[in-house]
Amino acid sequence: MVSRVIPVDTFDLVIFGGTGDLARRKILPGLFRRFIAGQMPGDSRVIGAARSDMGDDDYRQLVREAISEFGGQEKSDTANLDAFLGQLHYVQVDATGDGGWSDLSDLMRPDVVRAFYFSVAPSLFGALAERLHNHGIADRHSRIVVEKPLGRDLDGARALNQTLAEHFHEGQIYRIDHYLGKETVQNLMAVRFGNVLFEPLWNNHYVDHIQITVAETVGVGGRGAYYDKSGAMRDMVQNHLMQLVCLIAMEPPGQFEADAVRDEKLKVIRALQSVPAHHIVRGQYEATETEPSYREDADNPRSFTESFIAMRCEIANWRWAGVPFYLRTGKKMRARSSEIAVVFKDLGHSIFEGDVARHRNILSIRLQPNEGIDLQVTIKEPGPGGMRLVDVPLDLTFAEALGEDAEEVPDAYERLIMDVIRGNQTLFMRGDEVEAAWAWTDPIINAWEERSDVPKLYEPGSTGPEDSQMLLHREGRRWRDIKA
Ligand code: BG6
Repeated sequence: MVSRVIPVDTFDLVIFGGTGDLARRKILPGLFRRFIAGQMPGDSRVIGAARSDMGDDDYRQLVREAISEFGGQEKSDTANLDAFLGQLHYVQVDATGDGGWSDLSDLMRPDVVRAFYFSVAPSLFGALAERLHNHGIADRHSRIVVEKPLGRDLDGARALNQTLAEHFHEGQIYRIDHYLGKETVQNLMAVRFGNVLFEPLWNNHYVDHIQITVAETVGVGGRGAYYDKSGAMRDMVQNHLMQLVCLIAMEPPGQFEADAVRDEKLKVIRALQSVPAHHIVRGQYEATETEPSYREDADNPRSFTESFIAMRCEIANWRWAGVPFYLRTGKKMRARSSEIAVVFKDLGHSIFEGDVARHRNILSIRLQPNEGIDLQVTIKEPGPGGMRLVDVPLDLTFAEALGEDAEEVPDAYERLIMDVIRGNQTLFMRGDEVEAAWAWTDPIINAWEERSDVPKLYEPGSTGPEDSQMLLHREGRRWRDIKA
């Protein structure tokens, strides 16, 4: 199978924060991979913009080193790397002052797509938007790219949206949630809306419950200062897990088009019910003999911030009423494993001997690692000796199913940046979605703060606090294993 790469239009992409961590780890290596894939026209340019005083050659060297440190297989492609670096430029700008803006203005070309990636702290978004506007660098066709944290509560998100709206209309604002750029997440839509099999079963008549687990093995060391002010709820649930819930639960949009998709996602967020305290378990990892505790990593001995959360949510609409959505995410868990599982109901009656509840159909969508989808079905165990039933997965591991093409699966950022250039907002969050997500999150966090809720401790390498198991056990269900 040969994948089709359709080149995008010629662009000038300015990365504010072009020397920063995100640019070096994700954006620039991702652009290089798109360059190798032939998707980046030869006359396109990537312009790093930051405070440091350096020239084009220094910047190219910085990017060369970043690609060698963070790139994958592509870093050995030196011929392409030299050509790619030739398309890079650098401008020194002062985000909150006047310095450098006329240089940037001089550099920009008319008649090409202009995109501006705000890879800087959100507190600078307003200053950048204003200067781009005042210096006439951005016009009404230009695009800006922003990323979380998009506020830390509803008021903050509204203020941010208003700030951006002063100079850009909604159709120009690309709010990244990198989970939407993950290949399997998009496959979730393909599976739901591209097959006749699932949609008739996709409701409270046939689905018993949904589980979403995003487990990581890393701790928060190195980014404790940011994380301690966020916690798992703000860092993962309000955005990434919420987006996964939306894609699982939304009604089929009229067409696969940005606002049609986002309208349906918004309805899901608005239908999420408030979550009572006894449906939430918060956790914090302990120290081991060799590794620090969460509080040590966060450098806050009295921190009440959660590095783990499990919760039981419900969606109040006709399709999903009564179906629990169990969400769980945490750091320092047993394995790096992210999965969505749609657990179907038991057969009403079995003609075979044995317990019907032992055999269930489960559709599992593995986000990482080992991306793929499998459907657990019940079959007869081979051999003589009666009708013994066994559950087996109908496994569609993408790497195997797609053969060599699977290696070419683009990273989330590559895909999303190319969508910005194409002007396709389908996989980006709209301002009202972000606000609705905070409107659901705020009361939950406020309630913890009011009663000084203390997270339960859990052992690193485990599946989180014991109470998170109880969340399902008391309803006769259990979490799926967390395994790599
Ligand atoms: C980020 C969070 O948005 O997503 C991190 O801030 C988290 O805390 C990361 O580790 C997880 O992303 P991925 O793609 O590795 O699952």
